[in-house]
Amino acid sequence: MGAGVLRAVRPLVRKGGVLQWGRHSIEALAEEHGTPLYIYDGDRVLERLRTVRDAFAEVDPLVAYSVKANANLALLRLLAGAGCGADIVSGGELYRVRKAGFPAGRVVFAGVGKSAAEMREGIRAGIRAFHVESAGELEALGGVAGEAGRSAPVAVRVNPDVEAATHEFTRTGHAAAKFGVAPEEAVALYRRIAAHPHLHAVGVDVHIGSQVRSSEPFLRALEVVLDVAGAAERESGTRIGYIDLGGGFGIAGPAAEELDLAALGRAVARRLRGRGLSLVVEPGRFLVGDAGALATRVLYVKRSGGITFVVADAGMTELIRPSHYGGRHEIVPVREAGRGRVERVDVVGPVCEQGDFLARDRDLSLPAPGALLCVLQAGAYGFAMASNYNSRLRPAEVLLRGDRAELVRRREKYADLTRNECT
Ligand code: LLP
Repeated sequence: MGAGVLRAVRPLVRKGGVLQWGRHSIEALAEEHGTPLYIYDGDRVLERLRTVRDAFAEVDPLVAYSVKANANLALLRLLAGAGCGADIVSGGELYRVRKAGFPAGRVVFAGVGKSAAEMREGIRAGIRAFHVESAGELEALGGVAGEAGRSAPVAVRVNPDVEAATHEFTRTGHAAAKFGVAPEEAVALYRRIAAHPHLHAVGVDVHIGSQVRSSEPFLRALEVVLDVAGAAERESGTRIGYIDLGGGFGIAGPAAEELDLAALGRAVARRLRGRGLSLVVEPGRFLVGDAGALATRVLYVKRSGGITFVVADAGMTELIRPSHYGGRHEIVPVREAGRGRVERVDVVGPVCEQGDFLARDRDLSLPAPGALLCVLQAGAYGFAMASNYNSRLRPAEVLLRGDRAELVRRREKYADLTRNECT
């Protein structure tokens, strides 16, 4: 296991050869709740929140948790209780964050395709801002706000044309991405906002991508949005209250250290000093990624075509990151198997797709059928992207707090699969 990941997943310990999550036995949790099973460490999530707040302490940011990373209500309640805000991208996420108790004034709403209904819901709730991504969306929002007799708070999402070194599907800040508008267009949109009776500007927004491990692209994007904020204030007499730097703070990987958030925080504070601007950040993965693991049981070991396949009871339906983004998740046996027999294997799931795998060409001490494996750093975009493909049941989720382990989502049942079908 890469040193970076080992350090990142601090609560993991081996006692007498058996992997434990802090004081919790992964075997006992798997026994009680079955597998596949998502395990989240709430204390670790709060520790990560403190890390973000400490890094940006000088500017006392609003930390708006990016709900898409993991939308489990219990986790959301934990974060709302800790004073977090929320970054949402749908009416469904708005529903969740309100249910979890996030004050609407700490909720920002992003996304290139908000519907009129979603805009209406956001306006009715009184959210802090709509992060608007096109001229068409701005017009639509103005119309919806007008019908409601209200004024909608807006931050334009700027596309800074900054390329972050991450997977092409999680890069959002380059000019050819579907996100945001070019800086000149953003300035023009602020003029329209200033002239519109039902819109008012509150900030400027940017988000360059996910799993970004270097400060440099964030700082380049910051320069672009500061220019936009300055031009908007000069040209349209607008008062820009905040800069939203987005999320995407990278966590450790097998061969990579996590983003030096403290250094980024210092650099951002230096640039914001004396400008009367506040800061919003939208971390998702950084808060929950390494606080979660997926426990899965080995069903079979088979050899075919010169490859050793470890067939687990979890696959792309539980964790799609390996097959969709080439995401690398460490996989560790919960019980150290008869030492030595490390083999190069593919860890695959039961889904009827050749692209269904958790790892390929991975050196693993060969587990026996029935053995438990733990897939690490699965707290972000794990369950959140789980599906019922192959009519598989989405797994249970457990939240650990201190000595307590609470079931926070029951495993689905067959009846859940057909609940909404009309026969
Ligand atoms: N803010 C905005 C506007 C976003 O679009 C995202 C993520 C975030 C914040 C949070 O990014 P984070 O801090 O979690 O990196 N499913 C992919 C990641 C997709 C990210 C989408 N947007 C994956 O599993 O790698």
